[in-house]
Amino acid sequence: MLFDDFKLERHFARHEFTARHLISCSDAESIHLRELLDFEPGSRQKLEALWLGYSDSRGIPELRAEIRKLYTTVQDRDIVAHTGAQEPILNLFMGLIGPGDHVITHFPGYQSSYSVPKNLGAEVSLWKARPEEGWRLDLDELKRLLKPNTKLVILNCPHNPSGYVMPAAEYAALIAILRERGILLLSDEVYRGLEARAADRLPAAVDVYENAISLGVMSKAYGLAGLRVGWIATKNERVRLAFEKQKDYTTICGPIVAEWLASLALRHAGRLLERNRATVGANTAVFSAFLERRGERFEWVPPGGGTMGFPWRRDGKSMEPLAAKVLEREGLMLITGKYFDTDEKYFRLGLGRKDFPEVLAILERNLD
Ligand SMILES: Cc1ncc(COP(=O)(O)O)c(C=O)c1O
Repeated sequence: MLFDDFKLERHFARHEFTARHLISCSDAESIHLRELLDFEPGSRQKLEALWLGYSDSRGIPELRAEIRKLYTTVQDRDIVAHTGAQEPILNLFMGLIGPGDHVITHFPGYQSSYSVPKNLGAEVSLWKARPEEGWRLDLDELKRLLKPNTKLVILNCPHNPSGYVMPAAEYAALIAILRERGILLLSDEVYRGLEARAADRLPAAVDVYENAISLGVMSKAYGLAGLRVGWIATKNERVRLAFEKQKDYTTICGPIVAEWLASLALRHAGRLLERNRATVGANTAVFSAFLERRGERFEWVPPGGGTMGFPWRRDGKSMEPLAAKVLEREGLMLITGKYFDTDEKYFRLGLGRKDFPEVLAILERNLD
């Protein structure tokens, strides 16, 4: 089975490690292994004492115990650890979706959420966010998209690429719609914890809906992409078993060193999130100041959460020529809407990295 090229990941594969400056990344700033180990005295000795055999396919017990604490109603058995968030997305579709099924997915968004089901022969409808309404998702539109064979709806809040966070009342209404029809919800919560206002943080879907799958990962809000540790949490046993069975064909079990480090990091989740929220907040202010200078040319909806914003050119023209120019001239990688199957007037701003102000200054000096 040959899947469609994952446009964004192919583009990153080509330029991420040769470009000198990145302005469109989705992860929060990472840290070195030594800083993580410094979180707990004695951690180096414990790391050295790890047994390097196969481990529990669902994730090592220490890891699942820490993941459980991110939720309010979840038990360890409801969790299946994976390699990143990409593996569970693939396993969900491989294990539960096929020809004859209909999937509705938040759009624009992470390409695997629509390319994988499409390539597996499922019918896919795009639930389009409305930039003119602050990237809002319209529940009436969702109702119009529903079909008798709709099996799964995918929501990603805080959203990649816009930073949209659905208001709590609409989230509750969405779950009520899905509950009435017994439709599964994949809630991609990889940016959860980085809401601009703590009060806007939505409850994890697994805590409020029995047919939900909450997707989490160390890469984004926690800034530890190199660990490649992600997970799903669901109370639907049939769904959980589908993930467990599918994993037998993908990774069998996770890398124990990474799972152990992830459990250490999650014991200090609050500290990591606070640091990353501060970086995103400061960078959001830097971009707002840029818009005060350049507002005749660009516009955005300030993100409600996550690590990104998705501004656009007011004149509707493509950002691709500028992206090509800054890549060639400055080694600066800027991702436009083209890599999200949407209008090229948009570009993705990664607000999670510490060097954002300097990289934005490089972009700005190339504008005229
Ligand atoms: C919304 C969303 N889900 C899942 C993933 C995959 O995460 P990972 O790279 O950690 O596997 C990404 C990565 O960009 C993402 O933005």
